[in-house]
Amino acid sequence: MSKIRWGVLGVAKIATVKVIPAMQQSDLCEITGLASRTAEKSRAAAEELGIANSYGSYEDLLADPDIDAVYNPLPNHLHVPWSIKALEAGKHVLCEKPIGLTSTEGQQLVDAGKAHPQLKLMEAFMYRHHPQWVTAKKLVKEGGIGELRTIQSFFSYFLSDPDNYRNHADWGGGGLMDIGCYPISLSRFIFDAEPTSVSGAVEYDPNFNIDRLASATMDFGVGTSTFTCGTQLTPYQRVNIFGTTGRVEIEIPFNAPPDCPCKIWHETAAGIEEISFDICDQYRIQGDLFSEAILNNTPVPTPIEDAVANMRVIEAIVRAGKAGVWEQV
Ligand SMILES: NC(=O)c1ccc[n+]([C@@H]2O[C@H](COP(=O)([O-])OP(=O)(O)OC[C@H]3O[C@@H](n4cnc5c(N)ncnc54)[C@H](OP(=O)(O)O)[C@@H]3O)[C@@H](O)[C@H]2O)c1
Repeated sequence: MSKIRWGVLGVAKIATVKVIPAMQQSDLCEITGLASRTAEKSRAAAEELGIANSYGSYEDLLADPDIDAVYNPLPNHLHVPWSIKALEAGKHVLCEKPIGLTSTEGQQLVDAGKAHPQLKLMEAFMYRHHPQWVTAKKLVKEGGIGELRTIQSFFSYFLSDPDNYRNHADWGGGGLMDIGCYPISLSRFIFDAEPTSVSGAVEYDPNFNIDRLASATMDFGVGTSTFTCGTQLTPYQRVNIFGTTGRVEIEIPFNAPPDCPCKIWHETAAGIEEISFDICDQYRIQGDLFSEAILNNTPVPTPIEDAVANMRVIEAIVRAGKAGVWEQV
């Protein structure tokens, strides 16, 4: 087998606009199937995207023996249930972030993964695979900013559509689940540790009852990380990583564009160096790395337990916001 045959659950925007077109460029991935709850919807989308097979239910896709791996971009409340069904159907699973509604639910997926040790399972935090993040991490690790002391991140957009699952509390909506998960993930990635305690100021939308503005501090013992995320704000994203002698700034940290070079800045006493990266698609790299792990039977780049650890931090920030005190993670 030289290419992994992928099936996609749901005609999700992220899948049709970004992930499928990126993975179709890969030498290791073939998108062979697309499923929807509506046969006509998956047929039309499959035709448009040049995908050979479409299915009128997610069950039908999972029953197809010619699919090796499943990409799950369903709304957050369906991540764990459908990822477990996919594992039970013998498919490798790449599941969108955040891993589920709670860390307890996420742990159920981890346990399901352990019950199927021959199958690969990973949360789709694509940003980590972009060379700009690989380089930022290397710079920090090799002392390029001295001692790592603090990280500052911002991620926002404006979304008032009541039909979008992000504005449904029961479906895992809210800014912390949708975008706050990125600053948490990258801070744990760069510190290579878990925060011990967090504080948070969290404001809820009075109609949707989802968090629409959250500012949090994570204490990593050796340093801190602060971030703000908002779902009713002007769109913006930026990350700054500060050390005792230098700084790394990532211009477009999360939605790195696939059609123009990305850049980061490395500032030291010697000045500011701009580091530019060749055009690449982080979703393609993610698909390549996951497919490689299947083909070579090697570990996936990020173990699934990482997803549960990330969710624990989200939960602690929610608790801290409600209690108005620091919370242990
Ligand atoms: N990694 C990234 O860069 C990134 C970016 C954006 C989003 N995401 C993640 O990807 C996931 C999907 O986001 P999205 O914005 O692409 O979602 P979306 O466009 O709303 O699509 C979600 C799909 O889920 C299916 N679905 C099944 N049950 C549903 C229900 N009860 N309500 C609504 N849809 C239902 C629908 O497909 P059918 O009708 O065809 O069955 C729908 O098209 C989320 O988990 C999000 O966090 C990741």
